[in-house]
Amino acid sequence: MEKFTLKDKTVLVTGASSGLGESLAKKSAILGGRVFAAARNLDELKVLSDESKKESGDGKGIIIPVKTDIRNLKSVKNLFDEIDEGGNDIDIVINNAAIGHNSKIQDISDGELRDIVNTNLIGSISVTREAINRMLKQNNGHLVFVSSLAGKLAFPNLSIYSATKFGIEGLAESIREELSETGINVTTVRPGVMDTNFFATAGMNEFADTMKNKMQSPDDVADEIINAIANKSHDVTIGSDKRFMLLLKLLPKSIARKLLPYIT
Ligand SMILES: NC(=O)c1ccc[n+]([C@@H]2O[C@H](COP(=O)([O-])OP(=O)(O)OC[C@H]3O[C@@H](n4cnc5c(N)ncnc54)[C@H](OP(=O)(O)O)[C@@H]3O)[C@@H](O)[C@H]2O)c1
Repeated sequence: MEKFTLKDKTVLVTGASSGLGESLAKKSAILGGRVFAAARNLDELKVLSDESKKESGDGKGIIIPVKTDIRNLKSVKNLFDEIDEGGNDIDIVINNAAIGHNSKIQDISDGELRDIVNTNLIGSISVTREAINRMLKQNNGHLVFVSSLAGKLAFPNLSIYSATKFGIEGLAESIREELSETGINVTTVRPGVMDTNFFATAGMNEFADTMKNKMQSPDDVADEIINAIANKSHDVTIGSDKRFMLLLKLLPKSIARKLLPYIT
């Protein structure tokens, strides 16, 4: 089989300043891509870009850092203006940026609520809308949505996060239908628990400690996502058997949540 390459392809990764997004940006550049790495922390993005320049390799691509806050429509438009300026088509968009928050719904502040929904759901929608406008003109492209097991099976104290990830699942499914007659592919990926900053940001360090031995590495998850892109898969649950996931959906939630650690 021919080796998958991203040579001459433009890839956008949101949330590329850490964790899974950082791995995805690095690996896309290694595969030859011209990678636009978007996040709020420009310093981290610059470090990522500089490190990538130092690595040698035939046909290696580049990482272009773009300070972006996906909660802000103007910032999303600026990001796409920057991509357009280079005269680039936009081949792959990985909607990865998201935040969690460990709280019962009644305890969440207005600001926290807005941050989660505006980042995870509205931010991803804004990015996707800009991307689709361009991809339709090109009649090709690939949209990737990073969901979560929490997009299929809801957990207590993560209601808003789960609501946004269930939303991402619905968004991706609907868009896939809308675009079925075009050359644009849509892939939804669902990582399990990964060893990233996510839990510290979400105030879930205690949970992360209990899961330490079961955590997936973001590099391994990024490899699976790149495989899913190469294979144009519709839907990939990473690190757990899809049949078990279906079974979990059918079982009472209290039992399903107890079983989850054994199958991820
Ligand atoms: N870790 C897990 O166990 C797990 C499990 C399932 C799914 N996921 C999903 O995997 C994805 C990546 O998360 P991660 O685990 O890699 O967490 P992470 O290390 O905390 O990365 C989150 C990224 O999102 C960016 N981000 C946050 N708010 C943003 C905003 N307003 N605008 C632009 N970028 C923003 C952050 O960068 P800045 O702060 O620099 O903006 C950071 O680069 C998320 O979609 C998450 O829901 C994670």
